[in-house]
Amino acid sequence: MTVESVKPEAPLAAELREPPRAGGGVPVLGHGWKLVRDPLAFMSRLRDHGDVVRLKLGPKTVYAVTTPELTGALALSNDFIIAGPLWESLEGLLGKEGVATANGPRHRRQRRTIQPAFRLDAIPAYGPIMEEEAHALTERWKPGETIDCTSESFRVAVRIAARCLLRGDYMDERAERLCVALATVFRGMYRRMVVPLGPLYKLPLPANREFNRALADLHLLVDEIVAERRASGQKPDDLLTALLEATDENGDPIGEQEIHDQVVAILTPGSETVASTIMWLLHMLAEHPEHADRVRDEVEAVTGGRPVAFEDVRELRHTNNVVVESMRLRPAVWILTRRAVRDTELGGYRIPAGADIVYSPYAIQRDAKSYARHLEFDPDRWLPDRVKDIPKHAMSPFSTGNRKCPSDHFSMAQLTLITAALAGTYRFEQVAGSNDGTRVGITLRPHELLLRPVPR
Ligand code: HEM
Repeated sequence: MTVESVKPEAPLAAELREPPRAGGGVPVLGHGWKLVRDPLAFMSRLRDHGDVVRLKLGPKTVYAVTTPELTGALALSNDFIIAGPLWESLEGLLGKEGVATANGPRHRRQRRTIQPAFRLDAIPAYGPIMEEEAHALTERWKPGETIDCTSESFRVAVRIAARCLLRGDYMDERAERLCVALATVFRGMYRRMVVPLGPLYKLPLPANREFNRALADLHLLVDEIVAERRASGQKPDDLLTALLEATDENGDPIGEQEIHDQVVAILTPGSETVASTIMWLLHMLAEHPEHADRVRDEVEAVTGGRPVAFEDVRELRHTNNVVVESMRLRPAVWILTRRAVRDTELGGYRIPAGADIVYSPYAIQRDAKSYARHLEFDPDRWLPDRVKDIPKHAMSPFSTGNRKCPSDHFSMAQLTLITAALAGTYRFEQVAGSNDGTRVGITLRPHELLLRPVPR
């Protein structure tokens, strides 16, 4: 059955409307200047112009989808694939053969290879590492000292991803190197995306040299990890073994480049997103002491005073709701793009083949049409009797459909455990010099969050 034939109710091409054009564009740059100047405010106001709106970014027309229902339809439709400027710039730097940028049969095959490592029943095996890392995080800190939340969050996120998914004793030292390399690479990648002036990045400037060194080290590290696992002859039940044993559509082993790009494509989204979310969770604990206290109370009630364990996560319902509410207001992934592979429709509007589509989980998750007191931090809105009021697809931080993040269970388990360990041990205060303004990059995170931990 073809994709087209399952949509008999779709409007005829002649009935389709042209999406309205968003207001506020200027000659030559169109809406680009607004998107660069204040992207979050710009994306958040687009729904006032329509469910689907046309934007002019320089000479190019881009379509923005603004309602939960249509972002769900977009993510679930086979008429759109992963493509667009964001993905192209990622491919150039991180490799073309990884799961995050593949489409079609290759993507399906790659998802089949990685999925078992992220299945709900695979997560308990990662419990001891998540637990160890969550407690190591708070044990590293001395009461009263200033913690740099950016590096600390990145550190724990990379260590958990690397130690759980690419198991091995060598991982401790490697995880540190991965942290440094990934943090620098992400900073540089965002700069290259928002200021796409290719020749500028070839100049022998210190920032460019640092970026190139970090990118080279990231690729080298991945090669080392793969080579060492092969040399060890060991085959632990983990993602790396699954990748090394994967076969392609013809049953042949996948190539070295694909193995390499797959490891990169899993480690890179896995660290930046989790790290940004942890930064916002730390910020929330500092800014909402009443919620931090409720988390601490729940942790105490569940653990009876012993250190929180992975097995407790299931019972930490309020802590889980705090994590979800924090991700609603501060989603790490704030913008997503797709490309139409054929002439199609969305919400009764005509979308031509080749069109780039954008939507913002940030705008969707903060929309007053979907949430009562939409900007208020209210974890109880996720209680069973209230959650039914929230429209479908209005909270989708891991996306939906065939590109849905494979790591939703893995991420929620570690984020809940880390939040419980943090709130159970310390209260937090921002210190002088801390800048908690939102830094818009590939993900959203605070500019420079500096906190002082105060023992409970
Ligand atoms: C708070 C944590 C995380 C958030 C909010 C998040 C969010 C997302 C989102 C929204 C997508 C879909 C992108 C799209 O629709 O275009 C995605 C894809 C992906 N994520 Fe995550 N992610 C998180 C953690 C992780 C972790 C820990 C890993 C791996 C260790 C990971 C690996 C991936 C991969 C491989 C894809 C590409 C999937 C595909 O294209 O089939 N993510 N993530």
